Amino acid sequence: PPKFKVTIIGSGNWGSVAAKLIASNTIKLNSFHDEVKMWVFEETLPSGEKLTDVINRTNENVKYLPGIKLGSNVVADPDLENSVRDANMLVFVTPHQFMEGICKRLVGKIRNDAQAISLIKGMEVKKEGPCMISTLISQQLGVNCCVLMGANIANEEYRDNKEIAEKWVQLFSTPYFMVSPCQDVEGVELCGTLKNVVAIAAGFVDGLDMGNNTKAAIMRIGLKEMKSFSKLLFSSVKDNTFFESCGVADLITTCLGGRNRKCAEAFAKNGGKRSFDELEAEMLQGQKLQGVSTAKEVFEVLKYKGWLEMFPLFTTVHEICVGRLPPSAIVEYSEHAPKFP
Ligand code: NAD
Ligand code: 13P
Repeated sequence: PPKFKVTIIGSGNWGSVAAKLIASNTIKLNSFHDEVKMWVFEETLPSGEKLTDVINRTNENVKYLPGIKLGSNVVADPDLENSVRDANMLVFVTPHQFMEGICKRLVGKIRNDAQAISLIKGMEVKKEGPCMISTLISQQLGVNCCVLMGANIANEEYRDNKEIAEKWVQLFSTPYFMVSPCQDVEGVELCGTLKNVVAIAAGFVDGLDMGNNTKAAIMRIGLKEMKSFSKLLFSSVKDNTFFESCGVADLITTCLGGRNRKCAEAFAKNGGKRSFDELEAEMLQGQKLQGVSTAKEVFEVLKYKGWLEMFPLFTTVHEICVGRLPPSAIVEYSEHAPKFP
């Protein structure tokens, strides 16, 4: 039977980890070609060298995952269209804000038999309403698109076709990265997306030195809002999904150790005087925050639907990010009982 060929679209922090995981499996499994292509958004390093050349010479993403060998079967390619030409398994893992442009460039450029999976946390908001990134991919490119989300070690993969699900599980599973399939695609993707907004709130609490009890209270309210929002948007979303790795576990790990938390802490410590754009550039060195733009996207949905008062935490996070409220508002406002129409 023909072998599967994998391309990873994205090469940031998580994209590089995904490449390493996948490449360690394709080299062992007969049903996959050994080589894994990784599309790199090209940039010139301070040394004057291109990032792609350095990755291919050293087998390391020196900018986004320094110190880790990716596997000699990972080949970096700065040409997006070329990188997907031969692949029938496409792994999307870029910051969510770039996906609309990437999809536009890929229309008509991928193989007819391609399957996709999204590791991307975020959504697009259009006039017609919110559009999850996996939906954007499947609609624009005409492919089936699964999602993989979760907290570091025990991850979930979510999809609806059992045979294809098993192929993806095979591709990602290692003794230190466990993957289990599940059907609630919307629930899983919304968990991954919305927890980034809660992580911003948790970071504000840290920056204001409010202590663990307050932080736990904010995380609890955040989880409730994640669940209510997801179920209002998609009645198919299951309660159980919020207890999976992609739900409460990813929320905890992000609120304790993530980049959104870290930048929000600095934002609150500075009393909101330094913008998130400035803090992101200085503290993340090219890595990208998803929580601030997701808070804006969620706010737009809430406003459009007339649901603002039902989601005091989500609403307040956005108001703080844009400077309409001070960081301390996170406790004053989020703990107001939500008002239902
Ligand atoms: P990152 O934030 O580490 O890196 C940013 C990436 O964006 C770099 O590869 C950079 O080259 C690229 N980039 C910059 N400008 C671009 C442009 N104009 N067009 C296209 N690409 C551009 O990336 P990441 O951590 O790999 O995150 C990718 C996705 O994975 C996000 O949706 C994130 O939420 C999700 N995710 C991240 C983690 C994590 O721990 N890092 C975990 C799970 C999921
Ligand atoms: P941070 O981006 O906050 O580090 O969280 C990791 C992650 O899961 C991204 O969505």
